[in-house]
Amino acid sequence: MSRKGTFYIVGVGPGDPELMTLKAARILEKCPAWLAPAARNNGDSTALTIVQGAVPSEGKNIVIHHFPMKKVPVAENPDSEIQKSWDKAANWVNDQLEQGVDVALPTLGDPAIYCTGFYVYKTLLAAHPDIHVEIIPGISAIGATAAAAKTPLCLGDEKLIVIPAVYENGKLRKTLEEFNSMVLMKVYKSMDRLVPLLKEMDLLDKAVLVERTSMGEQQVHYDLESVVGKKLHYFSTLIVRR
Ligand SMILES: C[S@@+](CC[C@H](N)C(=O)[O-])C[C@H]1O[C@@H](n2cnc3c(N)ncnc32)[C@H](O)[C@@H]1O
Repeated sequence: MSRKGTFYIVGVGPGDPELMTLKAARILEKCPAWLAPAARNNGDSTALTIVQGAVPSEGKNIVIHHFPMKKVPVAENPDSEIQKSWDKAANWVNDQLEQGVDVALPTLGDPAIYCTGFYVYKTLLAAHPDIHVEIIPGISAIGATAAAAKTPLCLGDEKLIVIPAVYENGKLRKTLEEFNSMVLMKVYKSMDRLVPLLKEMDLLDKAVLVERTSMGEQQVHYDLESVVGKKLHYFSTLIVRR
């Protein structure tokens, strides 16, 4: 039987190509086919841009695939547009693997954290249970944001939680009361609602927001009231640490 290719989901770090691991670079270099995720139709792939800062892409078969930016509640079935996009990606990957071609899907940060690559993996696995997959971890925006803000996330017996900012204020309040440290991702549209909550809980001076961590135009905001009413970049992460 001919050898099937391996599908690699590769974490490429938060933005600075120097924050890609040696292993991520080696795997991308050896894979002839790359499936690069893009948030917008016909848009650029941030993950691909990061990779191209560290790994030569000449001669690679690169497909930029649009994954719609929609909420995917884990306990529910995705809507048909999302499912179609996963199916299309999984079919392309499978065609390559069947021909013995190794495929890499570079993904921002770490693949274990809010990453579309896992949906492609799940879709592939359902149709082809014998698929070979390897996950290459990467530096998440979580650690990179803490580094940019020069703060630990947790020390000693402190508890840390990572949540998407889509939670409403009641739940966030309870969580903030329970955990010493909270990392809020996908906060870019939520700061107008979060800042008053933090103020009310007397936590404003315990919070820091980092936009575009390690991406060249990085901004570290300690004065959170100054970001209210401003358009923030999608790549923004908030840390609150009591
Ligand atoms: C879909 S999640 C992907 C997380 C990624 N897998 C990781 O490990 O960092 C996207 C969210 O990650 C955060 N993020 C990703 N890159 C970032 C960066 N360079 N600076 C700040 N936040 C970033 C933002 O909160 C953004 O809304």
